[in-house]
Amino acid sequence: MSFKIALLPGDGIGTEVIYSAKDVLQAISKKYNKKFEFEAYDIGGVAIDKHHTPLPDATIEGCKAADAVLLGAVGGPKWDNNPSDLRPERGLLGIRKALDLYANLRPVKGFQKLLHASPLKEEIINGSDLLIVRELTGGLYFGRPSERRDNGNAVVDTLSYTRQEIERIVDMAFQSAQLRKKRLTSVDKANVLESSKLWREIVEEKKSEYPDVTVDHLLVDAAAMKLITNPVQFDVIVTENMFGDILSDEASVLTGSLGMLPSASLAENGVGLYEPAHGSAPDIAGKGIANPTAMILSAAMMLRYSFQLNEEAQAIENAVEAVVNEGYHTQDLKSTTGELVSTTEMTQLIVDKI
Ligand code: NAI
Ligand code: MG
Repeated sequence: MSFKIALLPGDGIGTEVIYSAKDVLQAISKKYNKKFEFEAYDIGGVAIDKHHTPLPDATIEGCKAADAVLLGAVGGPKWDNNPSDLRPERGLLGIRKALDLYANLRPVKGFQKLLHASPLKEEIINGSDLLIVRELTGGLYFGRPSERRDNGNAVVDTLSYTRQEIERIVDMAFQSAQLRKKRLTSVDKANVLESSKLWREIVEEKKSEYPDVTVDHLLVDAAAMKLITNPVQFDVIVTENMFGDILSDEASVLTGSLGMLPSASLAENGVGLYEPAHGSAPDIAGKGIANPTAMILSAAMMLRYSFQLNEEAQAIENAVEAVVNEGYHTQDLKSTTGELVSTTEMTQLIVDKI
């Protein structure tokens, strides 16, 4: 049996860390006798330069024909002043929409060795282990109209959701909670937003289908505060697109570096896309010093969610945890005691551990 993986390196450090994930998958392939086939496609700034579009048709078709997609990151200052349809992040939004990736799963777990690396107090983050389930294809980032009016002096963005869009993400969150500590926190702004009122109603309706899960609701502003004052209280957090975007970056401080955080973006029946939570990090791109961990852990999520290779996924996670707890770290975690290593050295340590 062979798994087809579409690689979308993108820009900046995306083009470095994606090959770390590939190396680790090849180690898994050898050890567990699984066959992975890789095919690379352009997306983001590199695609704009080569094809004059951030998302070429060949990339969409290649992803649809694959069993799963690994994405590095897109963007960079070179394209910052481009018109909006020629911006790298258009490629990212486009591929999420094309594959109908409605659910973004971001696990956030502090490694013992890195507790001190967070600006938060160790006693606050010790034991935190949560999963943010973010709606990814609705809400403000996709709502229409989104435009300037009155000669550019007025603007409108639209936050819209349908019942069906909310139900499927809420179901995904309940099911994720069932596999974890069975606690679900739904985050909204139901005191102000109509969309949040429907969101809250649907979570309440769905409770009876998952009687083993305890549910509470938090307003997003309170959730933002509690995430860094008492993160241990959370198991699964479910929320709409923009709230999830903000809260998941905030949650990254629990782990000490954005370079540690993986993510999975899932469709109802189609291919999943796996990418680190960080961006293309132009400030360190090309230097060989990026932390490949988030990308490698994203590949582990791919094995688990798209290929049902749980043992193999666990092997990657164990290897990462062992190497990190031995003190090996890239420069983003420079306050850590232990040995400073490059992207390829970190990758090789994880490969060797596997
Ligand atoms: P960023 O995540 O690229 O970088 C933020 C800071 O974290 C930088 O100092 C960077 O050096 C550091 N960092 C991030 N990942 C790291 C890693 N793996 N190892 C070591 N250090 C790491 O976010 P920023 O600077 O806001 O955006 C840079 C570009 O990336 C922009 O063009 C932005 O649009 C794009 N971006 C793309 C995303 C994606 O492709 N999913 C997500 C976020 C931003
Ligand atoms: Mg973000």
